[in-house]
Amino acid sequence: MAPTALADVADDHTLGQHLESISDAIDDVNSIKYDTKSKFDAAKDKATFRQYEDACDRVRNFYREQHAKQTVAYNLAARARFYSASRTRPRMTIWQAMEKLDTLVDESDPDTSLSQIEHLLQSAEAIRRDGKPRWMQVTGLIHDLGKLMLFDPALGTQGQWDVVGDTFPVGLAFDRRIIYPDTFAANPDTRDPVYASPLGIYHAGCGLDNVMLSWGHDEYLYHVVKDQSTLPDEALAMIRYHSFYPWHREGAYRELMADKDHAMLQAVQAFNPYDLYSKSDDVPRVEDLKPYYMGLIDKFFPQGELAW
Ligand SMILES: [Fe+2]
Ligand SMILES: [Fe+2]
Repeated sequence: MAPTALADVADDHTLGQHLESISDAIDDVNSIKYDTKSKFDAAKDKATFRQYEDACDRVRNFYREQHAKQTVAYNLAARARFYSASRTRPRMTIWQAMEKLDTLVDESDPDTSLSQIEHLLQSAEAIRRDGKPRWMQVTGLIHDLGKLMLFDPALGTQGQWDVVGDTFPVGLAFDRRIIYPDTFAANPDTRDPVYASPLGIYHAGCGLDNVMLSWGHDEYLYHVVKDQSTLPDEALAMIRYHSFYPWHREGAYRELMADKDHAMLQAVQAFNPYDLYSKSDDVPRVEDLKPYYMGLIDKFFPQGELAW
């Protein structure tokens, strides 16, 4: 057994590193694209812009695949696998999940990129420094743990395109405000008379709780924690919608919102800077911070182990 297990771990490392590389490029595009105020007027202008263009090439190829493959059929199948009675759900505490993600997605170049656990702690620490509530701090701490989906074979995760990247609803016409909207031409749902219609399978004001968002680490973690924590709805929204840029940044899909979703939108918009822009802060000292965050984890995940 041992050699197989070791080989699996090596494969997981490779998977994890590829995932992290494209995930960083996506964040670069999201943070640089919209940051018109401060990023382009300093001495690092050119370097930043070159980094943006490089990231764009890779990110465009990534979205070409994602936008072709995120169909209604794929999304139904992914949820069926998640809820399947025959899937043995891995059991882990939050901290174990953080450590597992960190070992699976370890960085080859620690000078330029943060490890997963460092990104999570930085987000949480920035939220804490700003005096935000403890439920929001713990949300920052866990928001990317859904990336562990890549390493549970029973979930049938295909690759990076169904783990990371901006998210969007399926089952209605793809909005032009989604990044690289032309790449949806290869998605068969664009030729389905219902799925390609303005409201598709939904009705106006149906509420985002009733909308199927493209399957990825946000949606997966939301399904994991919604019944296994004492987190408020705002926290669940920050988890579920943190990559839903066409909605929280571009203003699309307002017609699907129910009353509740306006408060959720504010929460997600308040959370976004802590995800995107905390990456340049000081590298957190994991062992120093662990006791504080273990206390928060106990409060919001009182049962300890979660089924993933
Ligand atoms: Fe994320
Ligand atoms: Fe993140």
